Amino acid sequence: MLKKTRYKDNKLLWISPFVVFLAPQSALMQRYSTTAELENALREQRKKKQKIGLVPTMGALHNGHLSLVRRSLFQNDITVVSIFVNPTQFNDSTDLEAYPRTLEKDEALLRTLEGTIWVYAPEVSDIYSGIVETKYYDFKGLDTVMEGPNRPGHFEGVATIVERLFRIVKPKKAYFGEKDYQQLQIIKLISKQKRLGVSVIDCPIVRENSGLAMSSRNQRLSENARSEASLIYQQLLWAKRRFTTLSFDRIKEEVAQTFTDHSLFDLEYFEIAESATLQPALERRKNKKYRAFIAVRIEGVRLIDNLAMNE
Ligand code: PAF
Repeated sequence: MLKKTRYKDNKLLWISPFVVFLAPQSALMQRYSTTAELENALREQRKKKQKIGLVPTMGALHNGHLSLVRRSLFQNDITVVSIFVNPTQFNDSTDLEAYPRTLEKDEALLRTLEGTIWVYAPEVSDIYSGIVETKYYDFKGLDTVMEGPNRPGHFEGVATIVERLFRIVKPKKAYFGEKDYQQLQIIKLISKQKRLGVSVIDCPIVRENSGLAMSSRNQRLSENARSEASLIYQQLLWAKRRFTTLSFDRIKEEVAQTFTDHSLFDLEYFEIAESATLQPALERRKNKKYRAFIAVRIEGVRLIDNLAMNE
């Protein structure tokens, strides 16, 4: 028999001899499935001088996303979490189809946080107003390296949807993870170029205990591959340790060799680049900051990561 008990901060505990279920709790959560509904509701809130933050996501939420949402909840009155698998940023249709869609689960996870969260989960035709196509942008060379050549059209797709989200939600601040560092720099650029009036806040990478950067794609890995994938972070740390003693070429060669020796991995790139311009660097220069960037495939799942080489 189930017994209903009130827990100290209003959570409900359902107690049976076998099951204890802590009812998920958040202050206020609403879902908006259409752009018009969301825009109307936000207009009302803006009249009341409510601060609005935006966390753009494609769903399949994990602790990395939650860290962005927590930061926004702390700095704003309302946090809009967009959950939308954006078709225009996928250059591989298999990847688009395989992308996990877990709206109910995502909402349950968001409900565990404290604060006002509005989930914006539109249909493709709604957010794109029926015309699903990318816009042209001048990314000033930020797109010509690493992810750019490996995923043609990807950044145009990202920029198109992020610009659209910024124009719909009109947040003061929007939160993005450093795991997609190249994406982050491109979004900062377009926010300025297009005068979108949004401060783009970068948030640190959240890692699993093994060091693997949290990603929605991790759930597509077998247990073995997930544990082996910690090699990615280990290699970034190794590069950082050798950063002042070995040449960039030597570091790159050694890392490439490590992945070649490991049959599970297929290394797409490992690059050391200047943090601001993202241009591959040949050697250390005074007063410059560098990051190492990596993309590998493991069990057909493409994973990316990066790490600052000097502070
Ligand atoms: O980083 C992501 O999840 C996506 O690229 C973003 C920014 C939500 C745009 O679809």
